[in-house]
Amino acid sequence: TTKAKTLLLFGATGDLSRRMLLPSLAALHAEKLVSEDLRIVGTARSEMTDAGFRNFAREALEKFLPAERRGGMADFLNRLHYQQLDVTDPKAFAKLAKKVGDPQGLAIFLSTAPQLFKATIEGLAGAGLAEEGTRISLEKPLGTDLASSAAINDAVAAAFTEDRIFRIDHYLGKETVQNLLALRFANLMFEPLWRSQYIDHVQITVAETVGLESRVDFYDGAGALRDMVQNHMLQLLALVAMEPPGKFDANSVRDEKVKVLRALRPISADEVVTGQYRGGASTGQIVPGYDEELGRDSDTETFVALKAHVDNWRWRGVPFYLRTGKRLTRRVTEIVVQFKAVPHSIFPGARMMPNQLVIGIQPEENISFTLMAKVPGIDQDGMVLRPVPLNIAMPDAFSGKVKRVAYERLLLDLIEGDQTLFVRRDEVEAQWQWIDGIRATWAREGVLPKTYNAGSWGPSAAIALAERDGVSWHE
Ligand code: BG6
Repeated sequence: TTKAKTLLLFGATGDLSRRMLLPSLAALHAEKLVSEDLRIVGTARSEMTDAGFRNFAREALEKFLPAERRGGMADFLNRLHYQQLDVTDPKAFAKLAKKVGDPQGLAIFLSTAPQLFKATIEGLAGAGLAEEGTRISLEKPLGTDLASSAAINDAVAAAFTEDRIFRIDHYLGKETVQNLLALRFANLMFEPLWRSQYIDHVQITVAETVGLESRVDFYDGAGALRDMVQNHMLQLLALVAMEPPGKFDANSVRDEKVKVLRALRPISADEVVTGQYRGGASTGQIVPGYDEELGRDSDTETFVALKAHVDNWRWRGVPFYLRTGKRLTRRVTEIVVQFKAVPHSIFPGARMMPNQLVIGIQPEENISFTLMAKVPGIDQDGMVLRPVPLNIAMPDAFSGKVKRVAYERLLLDLIEGDQTLFVRRDEVEAQWQWIDGIRATWAREGVLPKTYNAGSWGPSAAIALAERDGVSWHE
């Protein structure tokens, strides 16, 4: 694959573009990670001149990119061009093609509503912007179930071959998510233990403190299961559970992930708890409940906890507890690998705690492994033991490295044509298939979300879900 020479951004005046894409591109420019001749063409429905778009971008950078990362901003802005476009008008694409110029080395990024994907792709193909030598990246949501996701995938596949389709799951661009692969496959010590003989269970938490934010209609139509579990959390689970790939390249890694996703056991209604927040004190302020924020009653879940199983040799009998929600106690994304107890204790009186590996993804990037150690001192009744953590705080271990947002990595990979951190069609579809099964169970059994207070860890039933197996959620 060759490096892209033009990046064409659909939805260029939208929220993702303003908050993430333009600032990330500017950061890549400042660090000279993209070649000098890369042009960026923005397009959206509103009328705007090149100068107007550059202004829009400058304001976005001033707001969303730290000042010390804004080097060479004037040069960056000069890379930007704009073309107004109504994607539902097939004839309009000719103007766009003219603005883009040579389609060889064109990378396209669709950050628009998925309802517009099909028309956009047909327009691109009609204007000669989908030929060999072009590639396309799609933002979530890729459908709302397996059927609608397959329809999107079919529409893209009609114009682009799979090796030119880059489906974004921005969690894969996060530094510690990639670090999980380094931890598992660049060290000897974990792999022999990474299986049901030695692992008791795994926990994956993606907790947020924010509420609905500005995406009322989208979120209420999606809910936490489809917004977070279907994509980000299942990708994290796949990375934890997959077999070692032969190489670190796009298809080797994705071949292993998809096997895990296909091995997910369909879950029953009593293995899932859903919740919806009501008003309460959250991060030091009183916040309204979901219904109040929404302005109407709704049965959409803002919290999910579930117990998943990967039905293969390695994970036989190891539950994966997943939970995610809005308006929880604090913002934290982490993976906890809970090892089993030692087979026989030679320290009578000591309370043994099994080893635990905690991989912190955000806000803190750290890896911590708890070991049992002897408490210093002389004790007549035998050795006193206590768990102590071996801690690696990534920012300290690698001081001087800037903290990147996921989109910097992903946009650079798109420009360079590396698909390793993008999701393949069979993965997305395996994810949807499992999620559709859960939703069908909810519909059949009339499952409704339980309430929880903003600022809590979710409904008490979620705590009970783990507790009845003798497991407590990590805090
Ligand atoms: C998005 C979801 O995909 O991920 C949002 O649509 C969520 O609802 C966001 O807030 C979380 O991303 P991050 O990077 O802040 O953990």
